[in-house]
Amino acid sequence: MAAGKGTRLKSKHPKVLHEIGGKPILAHVIATAQKVVPAQDIFVIIGHEAERVREAVAGTGVNFVLQAAQRGTGHALMVAREALFGSGSGIGNGKGNNNNYDQVIVLSGDAPLITPETIRKLSAFHTAQRATMTLLTADLDDPYGYGRVIRKGGRVEVQAIVEEKSATPQQKKICEINSGFYAFDAPVLYQHIDRLSTENAHGEYYLTDMAGVFHRAGKKVVAIKTSDVGEVLGSNTRTEMMVLDARLRLAKCRELLENGVTIFYPHTCVIDSDVEVGADTVIEPFVQLLGSTKIGADCRIRSYSVIGNSVVGDRVTVKPGTIMEDSRVGAGAVLGPYSHLRPGSDVGEGAHVGNFVETKKIKLGKGSKANHLSYLGDAEIGEGVNIGAGTITCNYDGVNKHKTVIADGVFIGSDSTLVAPVKIGRGAYVAAASCITEDVPADALALGRARQSVKEGWARAKREAQKEKQR
Ligand code: UD1
Ligand code: CA
Repeated sequence: MAAGKGTRLKSKHPKVLHEIGGKPILAHVIATAQKVVPAQDIFVIIGHEAERVREAVAGTGVNFVLQAAQRGTGHALMVAREALFGSGSGIGNGKGNNNNYDQVIVLSGDAPLITPETIRKLSAFHTAQRATMTLLTADLDDPYGYGRVIRKGGRVEVQAIVEEKSATPQQKKICEINSGFYAFDAPVLYQHIDRLSTENAHGEYYLTDMAGVFHRAGKKVVAIKTSDVGEVLGSNTRTEMMVLDARLRLAKCRELLENGVTIFYPHTCVIDSDVEVGADTVIEPFVQLLGSTKIGADCRIRSYSVIGNSVVGDRVTVKPGTIMEDSRVGAGAVLGPYSHLRPGSDVGEGAHVGNFVETKKIKLGKGSKANHLSYLGDAEIGEGVNIGAGTITCNYDGVNKHKTVIADGVFIGSDSTLVAPVKIGRGAYVAAASCITEDVPADALALGRARQSVKEGWARAKREAQKEKQR
C-alpha cells in the first residue's frame, strides 16, 4: 500500500518517495518483498502522485494498481480486487488477468525496515493456523498513533483492532500494536471486504476493521508478535523518518564492520544502504558514501569526503575533503585533499589528483599526476603525464564544449592554458605559463608566452629619481 499522501509530513512529495538510507522508503519495501516473491507477484497500490511513484520504482518490474481516490487502507485492497483475485478466466476485465492468489500478504509502503524472514514467518504462521487474517504485531513502549490489538482473552486469536482515534482510554493502554502487515485468505477477504464501512473517526475504509468483520463472521483472526520492534516502525512524521534513517545507517555500518571494514565514529558517517566496501578499508569520521558507490579493499577514506555513485578500486587513498560524483578511480590512486571529481571522471591506476583540482568527463591515464590547482574538463590524458600546478583546459567557447587530448608521457608546465580543441603529442613538453591554441607534435617543446625582457638597473634608477624629487 503506497497510495497515501502522507499529510503528517507537511511535504509536497509523496510519503513513500521520501528517502531513508539514501533511497525511497517504498524502494526498501519492494526490495524486501522481492526476496520473498518474484516481482510479477508484487502489486504496488499507488494513488497520490501516482505517476511519480510509479516512475521511481518501475525498474523493479512490479505491477501497479491505481487507487485514484484514497479512501483508506481497506479501500486500497478493494481497488486491488481485480489484480489480486480476478475472474480467473482472463475474459471481461480487458486486462486478461488470470491471477487467483489464495494468500495475499499486505505490506505497508511506509514501513521500510521489515525483513524477508519476518514476512515469511507471518505467511507460514497464517498457513499453519489456517487463519483468514493474520496480523503482525509488536509491543511498543509508546504505542501512541498505532492501532491497538484486542486479543480474545490473551490468546492467539484476535477480536478487533482499534485505531488511536477510536480507542477508549482503557484500550489506549494496550501496548500491542498492529504493524500494518497482514496475511489474508484472498477469496475470503474478497467475499467479506464489502462489509467495511466509513463510519469511523476518519470517514475511511479501514483495513484494520476486517479483524472485527471476520470475528463477527466466525472466521479465524490471529496475531503473531515480532520481537524486533524496529522492523515494524512506520514513517508518518519527519521525526519517525529520522529515527528509521539512523537505525538503517547504523545497521549498515554494522554490516560493513562485520565484513572487515573499519569505521571510526560510525554515528558521524552517512553510508547509504546499497553501498559496498571491501575488507581492510578504513573510513574516518564524517565521511559520506552515497548511492551505488563501491569502494575497494585496503582503501583509506579520510574525513569530510563525500563520494556518490562512484567506483573506487583497491588501495586508493582519498584524503580529506574530496568530493566525487559518478566517477571511477583505479587501484592505488591518490586523491585530495580537496579534489573535486565531477561526473565522468575516470582516474587511472596509481594516478594522483591533488589539492583543488577539479575534473569533469576526463580520462586520466595510469600513473599520471595533476597535483595542484587545476581544471581538467573534457580531456583524454594518457599515461605517465605530468600536469603542472594551475593548468587549465579551456573546454568551453561559450557555446560548445571541446576536447583536449594529451598523449602518454607529456609534461605540461605550470600555469598553462590549453585552449580546446587541441592535441599534445606523445612525450611533448609545454613550457610553463603557455597558452596553447594549436596542436603540439610528439616530442616537441611548445612555448606559448611572451619572451621575458630584462632592464638592468631599472629599479635602482627609479628609486633614485624619486629621492631626487623629495629633496
Ligand atoms: C495504519 C493502521 C494502524 C497501524 C499502522 C502501522 C489503518 C487504518 N491503520 O495506520 O492500525 O498501527 O498502519 O504503521 O490501516 N494507504 C493507501 N491508500 C489509502 C490510505 C493509505 O495506499 O487510501 C497506504 C499509505 O500510503 C501507507 C499505508 O497505506 O503506506 C498505511 O497508511 P497510513 O495512513 O500510514 O496508516 P497509519 O495511520 O499509519
Ligand atoms: Ca503509517
